Amino acid sequence: MKRIIERTEDGSATLFVPELNEHYHSTKGARTESQHIFIDMGLKASAAISPRVLEIGFGTGLNAWLTLEEAERSGRNVHYTGLELYPLEWQMIEQLNYVTNDEQVTVNGEQQTAIELFKQLHTSPWEEEVELTPHFTLRKVQEDFKKLRMENGELRVNNTNDGTINSQFSTLNSPFNLNSQFNLVYFDAFAPEKQPEMWSQELFNRLYVLLAKDGILTTYCAKGIVRRMLQAAGFIVERLPGPPGGKREILRARKQE
Ligand SMILES: C[S@@+](CC[C@H](N)C(=O)[O-])C[C@H]1O[C@@H](n2cnc3c(N)ncnc32)[C@H](O)[C@@H]1O
Repeated sequence: MKRIIERTEDGSATLFVPELNEHYHSTKGARTESQHIFIDMGLKASAAISPRVLEIGFGTGLNAWLTLEEAERSGRNVHYTGLELYPLEWQMIEQLNYVTNDEQVTVNGEQQTAIELFKQLHTSPWEEEVELTPHFTLRKVQEDFKKLRMENGELRVNNTNDGTINSQFSTLNSPFNLNSQFNLVYFDAFAPEKQPEMWSQELFNRLYVLLAKDGILTTYCAKGIVRRMLQAAGFIVERLPGPPGGKREILRARKQE
């Protein structure tokens, strides 16, 4: 799939996919959107002491990076699972300049070169748990979201249409049980008009099961049909103001029991 780098209105870059006629982020501001929807309205709104985050669509890693920064700022330990079917090359991500060469990040009270850490976020192995900083552990999983489900308290992937399970993935994820459900879902798939199969009732039902009590799902899409599917899955759904200069509304869904 071809991707073209474009600048958004807040100065941060995003990727455009000509095949889908779709961007990875809002053209009104990539960084502003990510910070608002996933960090300010999601992560910061979660009362979980050590939040476990599941991102649908890891992509450029911008949400993961902002989460790492927030984890270090707040001192909360975050476990982050980034699900992505089409991983991007570091050579492409590097050109987005989300982190500049001279930027520093405070890790455990000490200054560290941000670009090195950002590179690690992308070049660390997939399907493995990597402690990137004392407060941020990452597991990138190259899998199809549509095949993800919970079975007997374990996160599994349906690898074939006949329902058999990808045993390797299932083994890798054996630490997942009902006591380690997710506290947050960052739902960042391409828009429903572009990838309708990612926005189905069945998939929202599965995400509901994957979340712990008081778990939160946030998404940039505030369409009525998406809101109703989230409600039908069992979520209490709020419409919140969108990011500055961007969309009017976003959605935050909470699992109450
Ligand atoms: C709107 S982009 C957002 C990416 C990312 N959150 C970011 O900030 O760069 C949607 C992402 O979903 C990924 N994706 C598409 N289909 C998928 C699938 N079936 N399973 C998992 N990820 C998928 C795309 O490759 C893309 O990276």
